[in-house]
Amino acid sequence: MKEILILGIETSCDETSASVLKNGTEVLSNVISSQIDLHRLYGGVVPEVASRKHVESIIPVIDRAVKESGKALEEISAVGVTCGPGLAGALLVGISAAKALAFALGIPVIGVDHIEGHICANYLENPDLEPPLVCLVVSGGHSHLIKITSDGEYEVLGRTRDDAAGEAFDKVARTIGLGYPGGPLIDKAAASGNPDAVRFPKTYFSESLDFSFSGIKTAVLNYVNNMERKNEKWSVEDVAASFQKAVAEVLVTNSIKAVKQSGLNALALAGGVASNSLLRLELEKAAAKEGIRLSVPRPVLCTDNAAMIACAAYRKFIAGKISGLDLNAIPGLKLGDIIY
Ligand code: KG4
Ligand code: ZN
Repeated sequence: MKEILILGIETSCDETSASVLKNGTEVLSNVISSQIDLHRLYGGVVPEVASRKHVESIIPVIDRAVKESGKALEEISAVGVTCGPGLAGALLVGISAAKALAFALGIPVIGVDHIEGHICANYLENPDLEPPLVCLVVSGGHSHLIKITSDGEYEVLGRTRDDAAGEAFDKVARTIGLGYPGGPLIDKAAASGNPDAVRFPKTYFSESLDFSFSGIKTAVLNYVNNMERKNEKWSVEDVAASFQKAVAEVLVTNSIKAVKQSGLNALALAGGVASNSLLRLELEKAAAKEGIRLSVPRPVLCTDNAAMIACAAYRKFIAGKISGLDLNAIPGLKLGDIIY
């Protein structure tokens, strides 16, 4: 059988990434150039700065990904690229590069939903995993519980009503002086903190698997302000650990409920927050207790990367779902929307 090589490209936010994937699951290369140091100066991602940095990095990153794969550009079967959701200017850089390559090589270009890419990280980690399954997608912009019946067939079982989990991590990190990027810094600080030091609120909705993280975000702010006003000492590590514990508990509880309600027996984890150490640990414990098959991609496949985009593109390629050279950025793309 002729091998199928997909070049994946990801530029939706602050990582410029390219990957070469063989036959849907074999990652030959996965180059990720992070802009974190650049955005740290501003305390968060600045869209205009991100676009300009992507323009600078995109060709060297693609070049390195192809070289590291040991393959020649001419051997690539198709180019898969994130076309949304994400920052418009950032997305356009990857899309333009992907279309130019596809045009020059005479191969198809395939537009990929970034969230679908995150979900596909699970098929890279566990090549025998296939839908139907439930996936908890927790990133900077999403906190969704999704029932995946088959590729492209999604049912949202629960979603955040305000902040995404990653957004809450980032905002709380700023409140307690940890800075940017918040998620990994809270994870690290929490390791030496007491998770039972402060009781932060956990929001559940009756009859719904929705999430809400704005309450806990405000509670952390109020706690810090109160302590400061009273001139009392408080511990960054304890607050980080207590906050992380509360968020992980809500995510785990609703995920297990979602699997049970859907009548399925498989749970997957996706998105940047999926690399959180406590969330991974608690989900593993809960899934084992309930006899649920759990898929947790390694951290580098959880945060933004092009291998997951190449995997989603491969699955679309096999299904004949390719895009035209008029493919455009869709910053507000919703999971399940058709991409042309
Ligand atoms: O999926 P991702 O890399 O980009 C988006 O598509 O949004 O997710 C980024 C989010 C950020 O909010 C970041 O703080 C969070 O994932 N994150 C974490 C961890 N690593 C990244 N949150 C908690 N714990 C972590 N270890
Ligand atoms: Zn992402």
